[in-house]
Amino acid sequence: MGGIVSYLFSFWNQEDTLDESTGLRLSQKRHIVSSWSIIEKDLKGNGVELFITLFTMYPETQNMFKRLKNKSVEELRKSAALRAHGLDFNRMLSAFVENLDDVECLVNLIQKVVLSHLPRKIGPDEYLVVAKVFHAFMKMKIGSLYTPAVQESWDIVFGVIHKISVDELKKYNKDQ
Ligand code: HEM
Repeated sequence: MGGIVSYLFSFWNQEDTLDESTGLRLSQKRHIVSSWSIIEKDLKGNGVELFITLFTMYPETQNMFKRLKNKSVEELRKSAALRAHGLDFNRMLSAFVENLDDVECLVNLIQKVVLSHLPRKIGPDEYLVVAKVFHAFMKMKIGSLYTPAVQESWDIVFGVIHKISVDELKKYNKDQ
């Protein structure tokens, strides 16, 4: 009996192991992987919808995209530039999700994104915006499957991205 209890306990314990470097529990990683698997079925189309959500919620961000500024929603829906950018963005998110268990690689991927965005004056505040937009997009896209627990899991990921962007901005400003 004791054996079964300790087996069950170790199983439960394993289920919810905390990854200290990301702050994510195993169950939260699973929430991220399963919710993202729905979006991954159409990375390009979902990328377009995500950016239309961004430009609708925060219209000023559209001007940051040279090839997209001043386009109407109808034009954006037909824009090859937005399809390409949406795909770039979502492929990078897929890479983040694929590397939740290889934190060194995950951190490097995030640093690369953050560094490539700093010269465009995209920093910590903009990642907070993207997190809000992402939640709105996911609620719209997967509805009740985007439970508070799933949202909380993604919030941890965006928290890591934000933290890395704060750190990289400090280094960047020092080097200027
Ligand atoms: C998780 C957050 C983000 C990811 C994964 C991401 C990903 C990418 C990728 C893969 C590219 C293309 C490669 C490059 O030029 O670096 C890119 C370009 C770009 N991103 Fe982001 N990005 C993120 C956040 C943001 C935010 C918050 C903004 C602004 C609100 C932004 C604006 C841009 C712009 C303006 C470009 C250049 C587009 C072009 O002219 O082709 N990104 N992003």
